[in-house]
Amino acid sequence: MAADWGSINFQTMLKDWVSSKEYRDLNWVGSFSDYVNLVKKHPKVTRNAFQRLYDLITEKGQEEYVDVKKHVVHYKFFDDEEAGGRDAVFGLDISLMKLVNVLRAAAQGYGAEKRVILLHGPVGSAKSTVCRMIKKGVEAYSRTDQGALYTFEWVDEAGDHEDIFGKGVRVYPSPMHEEPLLLVPEEMRAKMCEELNRGVRDDFRVQIVGELCPPSRYIMRRLLEKYNGNYERVFNHVRVKRMILSEADRIGIGTFQPKDEKNQDSTELTGDLNYRKIAEYGSDSDPRAFNFDGEFNIANRGVIEFVEVLKLDVAFLYDLLGASQEHRVKPKKFAQTHIDEVIIGHTNEPEFRRLQDNEFMEALRDRTVRIDIPYITKWHQEIKIYKKDFNSKRLRGVSIAPHTIEMAAMWAVLTRIEKPKKANLSRVQKLKLYDGKAIPNFTEDNVKELRKEAKREGLDGISPRYIQDKISNSIVMAQQMSRGSVSPFMVLNELDSGLKNNPLMANNEDVRNDYRELIAIVKQEYEEIIKGEVQRAVSNDEGALERLCSNYIENLRAFTQGDKVKGGSGASEEPDERLMRAIEEKIEIPESRKDDFRREIMNYLNALTLEGKKFDYKTNERLHRAFERKLFEDQRDTIKLTSRGSSSDSKDTKEKIDLVRSRLIKEFGYDEVSAHDVLEHVAGIFARGDVKEKK
Ligand SMILES: Nc1ncnc2c1ncn2[C@@H]1O[C@H](COP(=O)(O)OP(=O)(O)OP(=O)(O)O)[C@@H](O)[C@H]1O
Ligand SMILES: [Mg+2]
Repeated sequence: MAADWGSINFQTMLKDWVSSKEYRDLNWVGSFSDYVNLVKKHPKVTRNAFQRLYDLITEKGQEEYVDVKKHVVHYKFFDDEEAGGRDAVFGLDISLMKLVNVLRAAAQGYGAEKRVILLHGPVGSAKSTVCRMIKKGVEAYSRTDQGALYTFEWVDEAGDHEDIFGKGVRVYPSPMHEEPLLLVPEEMRAKMCEELNRGVRDDFRVQIVGELCPPSRYIMRRLLEKYNGNYERVFNHVRVKRMILSEADRIGIGTFQPKDEKNQDSTELTGDLNYRKIAEYGSDSDPRAFNFDGEFNIANRGVIEFVEVLKLDVAFLYDLLGASQEHRVKPKKFAQTHIDEVIIGHTNEPEFRRLQDNEFMEALRDRTVRIDIPYITKWHQEIKIYKKDFNSKRLRGVSIAPHTIEMAAMWAVLTRIEKPKKANLSRVQKLKLYDGKAIPNFTEDNVKELRKEAKREGLDGISPRYIQDKISNSIVMAQQMSRGSVSPFMVLNELDSGLKNNPLMANNEDVRNDYRELIAIVKQEYEEIIKGEVQRAVSNDEGALERLCSNYIENLRAFTQGDKVKGGSGASEEPDERLMRAIEEKIEIPESRKDDFRREIMNYLNALTLEGKKFDYKTNERLHRAFERKLFEDQRDTIKLTSRGSSSDSKDTKEKIDLVRSRLIKEFGYDEVSAHDVLEHVAGIFARGDVKEKK
């Protein structure tokens, strides 16, 4: 029998939605007078496109922090929280801060509103992502109470004016979704604004900027003629309504993407004649016979994005410049038409360089504000990109081993970082400095200097897209092999082999070799990490560590006081110099410094005793590490055995190894497969006699 999942009453659901307050708000309609009163109450419904964009970004809140002595504001808008962070942008706070500052200046009318905003950066640096977020944000804002905005339509319910509206036409929406206040005749505007702004405490002031588009002007004029100049009767034909911006519906959001360089047509931007209607109205200069549906027209009140703006045909340049500078577009055969929209374009770095000296750029340079969107050079920010994409621990039966994403991100960032001029600093160290890690002898000023000396940092190197592709390849491969786990080695090898035919690298053998070398460096880093983890998993035996600690301290006390210790048999013995040195060597205490070191520790212990406290090895990081390393040394042989996988391993050995494996799983996030891989790999390293230890 089929399970009863319950039934859905769609009719009721619909009814509930339609009778909800939200529905009523979103579908608000009213007369022009209603609208004027609404504006009086909520003047901000009349904000222009820049003001709205600036507000919607800042209304999401911000966080401030200091990064290498620089004060940075992080705008939460770019976390894309509502969509679960799907389009979140990481590590670009400084660029985004510049962008928001430009928007602020534009919102206040300081001139930035007359510029094209140009996002510029290497391929795959999140330029499109930033634009997508802005467009989505503008859409979403129009649905909120704070973001509500309005437009109007002409109505002729009785059908008295078919000569004006067209045959059978009862409703004629403002084709460019204009602000209703534009209907106010020029001569009345100052008075109207004065009334609207009187007594308003907010520092926002209602302004009426621009003129009606040609068809609305036409209808207005004709109605006025018919009514012998009686405005009241003309306004009876105006119906104001709430407007919801939507890219899918081509309302308030436009995207222009040059296709073929040879085959661009200006009608795509500023609209086109409607030949069927020319026949109806009898003239190609009748505004009703024109479709005001170019990208600039439909994007009115919101934003227009120019994808690859430098690929735009020079013939369009003046459309673009007029649109930004004058806030006007010029449809064929019509007067210039006012627009209110944010114009944002992007271009990638190679294209930008190629066109730096061409005519298009010359004209554009002055009229654009360029915002650089570089690659991330902070390792942990880069990691976030891939964690966002591959966030689930298990992807269709495959797990991603710990550090896989971290290592891929490390490589990506390393390819972008310029070789430090300082000889005593490696690229990995530079990466760690940038990431906020302290490295002895390097100050924040040094980090600033490093950033300054780099010429093209963040403009070259590997793009996140390449990394995303290779990680996903590795996942698919693991699925095919029913391997169960994707390891850093798999991904690093995949990244390496992809370099062979990477078109971005063209024939640049030097760069390719350099990137390969960086893969080897990352592999080493990874080995250090897993060695450390296995080491900690082995030595993380608190009982054993405690025993070792009290043993050391007892010997230390005896040594500094010239005393003896109690041996195993109860007899007094000399302090165990070999044991003490074995521990101290683990943290690089040379023979010549051992007396000082031991005295220091004793002083510390005595001070604790005076305070009535007991020493806990965990509170002393160095000693803790030394004990762990000593314990590990004592047990390493057990691990070595796993690499031989000999069946003759004793039960005791097997138990010890199982214990280590389960610690790797419990404490370091491994699963069975990846823990096995890592143990195997580390065992191999130990078996080859690599006992050199790093700090
Ligand atoms: N700083 C970043 N934060 C979050 N994601 C990023 C970042 N940089 C790149 N990405 C990711 O990299 C991918 C490529 O980004 P996007 O398409 O926005 O790049 P683009 O700059 O438009 O590239 P192109 O120049 O090739 O058009 C996306 O999946 C994006 O999420
Ligand atoms: Mg793009």
